[in-house]
Amino acid sequence: MSIRNLDDLLGEGVSGRRVLVRADLNVPLDKQSGEITDDGRIRAVLPTLSALVQAGAKVVVCSHLGRPKGAPDPQFSLRPVAGRLGELLGAPVHFAEDTVGDSARSTVEGLADGQVALLENLRFNKGETSKDDAERGAFADQLAAFGDAYVDDAFGAVHRKHASVHDVPARLPHFAGRLVLREVEVLGKLTGDPERPYVVVLGGSKVSDKLAVIEALLPKVDRLLIGGGMCFTFLKAQGHEVGTSLLEEDMVETCRNLLERSGGKIMLPVDVVAADAFAPDATHDTVPADGIPSHRLGLDIGPETVAGFAAALSQAKTIFWNGPMGVFEMAAFANGTRGVAEAITKADAFSVVGGGDSAAAVRALGLDESSFGHISTGGGASLEYLEGKTLPGIAALEN
Ligand code: 3PG
Ligand code: MG
Repeated sequence: MSIRNLDDLLGEGVSGRRVLVRADLNVPLDKQSGEITDDGRIRAVLPTLSALVQAGAKVVVCSHLGRPKGAPDPQFSLRPVAGRLGELLGAPVHFAEDTVGDSARSTVEGLADGQVALLENLRFNKGETSKDDAERGAFADQLAAFGDAYVDDAFGAVHRKHASVHDVPARLPHFAGRLVLREVEVLGKLTGDPERPYVVVLGGSKVSDKLAVIEALLPKVDRLLIGGGMCFTFLKAQGHEVGTSLLEEDMVETCRNLLERSGGKIMLPVDVVAADAFAPDATHDTVPADGIPSHRLGLDIGPETVAGFAAALSQAKTIFWNGPMGVFEMAAFANGTRGVAEAITKADAFSVVGGGDSAAAVRALGLDESSFGHISTGGGASLEYLEGKTLPGIAALEN
C-alpha cells in the first residue's frame, strides 16, 4: 500500500499552509460535571499536532464527540477538549463555535503560522454521517475549504464512512498522521505473522458486536479467552443457567456452534462474581460458572478464572486484549479486569490493548501504560482491522 504520511508532508514544507487534521478527540466526559475523565485520545494526537506547529503550519483540527444527531447539542461540545488540548500543547487553541459556519471561517482566517484551531463537533452537521453521498460530499466541500492539505490522525474513526474521514481526503492532498501510521503498523503485526502462542482476550457486553472478530480470529489464534458480559451467552450455550445475567438469547445457538468449531481454543470462565443487583454496593459472591443462582447476575469473572486466564497469558508471545472482564467502574467488580490486565503486563509477550474502553480501564485502574506494547485508541476500528475489513478512512488515504 502506498500511503503518504506526515513526514512526506513536512518534507514538502508546510510553513504558512493550512493543514486540516482529522483527530479522534472523542473522550469520555463525566456525566455530572462534564469534565474529561480520560484524555488519552488527546495525548495520542499530540505528536502530529506538535510537528505541524513547529513546522509553522496553520493547524485546523476537527473531530467528533459522542453521537449527537446532526444538530448542535451543548452536552457534546468540543469546547472542554479545546481547553485541555491547549494545556497539553502549551499554546492556546482557538475554538470555533461552529464547524463550517461564520465562526469557523473567521477562526481559520485569523490563524497565524504555528497556531492551532479546533472546530466544533463534526456531528453537529447532518452531512458528516449521512448515508447520502451528495449530502456527505457537500459537507466535505465545506470542510476541505479550510485546508491546503489533509492529515488523518483519527484512528478511532477510520472504520466510519463519514465525510471528514472518507470524503475530505478525496478533495485534498492527504497524509496519514503519526498515530494512524503507528496503529496500522502494530495491528498489521497481529494480522501478519504473530509470534506464537498468540492469545486473544475478549470482553465487553455483547456477543453480537464481537461475532465477526471471533470468526476472523479463531483460525489465527492459539487461545481465545472470553470474559465480560458476553461470556454469559457462551455459558448458556454450554448448558449452564445464568440467572439474570446479560444474555443474548438469539446468539446462544451461534455460540454453541462456535464452541464446537473452536477446537478447544475458547476458554470460558469457571467462576463468576454474581450480585443481586447492578449496583456498586450490591450483595455479591463468587460462584461456580455452572452454579449462578436464578435471582443473581454475573458482574465479573471470578478469581479461579483470573488464575486460569493468567496462566494462559503467561505462555503467550503475542497478546491482543479488547473489552473489560467485568463492570470495572464499580470497585467490587473490577478484580477480573485488573487481574487480566496485570497478567498481560507480566507476560513476556508483545501486547496490544485495543479500544477506547479497555484503554480507559488500564488508566482508570492505575496500571502502567508503558508496560503494554501498544495501547490502541480505536475500539471498533481495531476490531474491524483485525477482521480484515476494508476501513474507509485507510482506503481513502491509499488513493
Ligand atoms: C469510538 O469511540 O469508538 C470512536 O471515536 C468512534 O465513535 P463512534 O463509534 O461513535 O463512531
Ligand atoms: Mg465506539
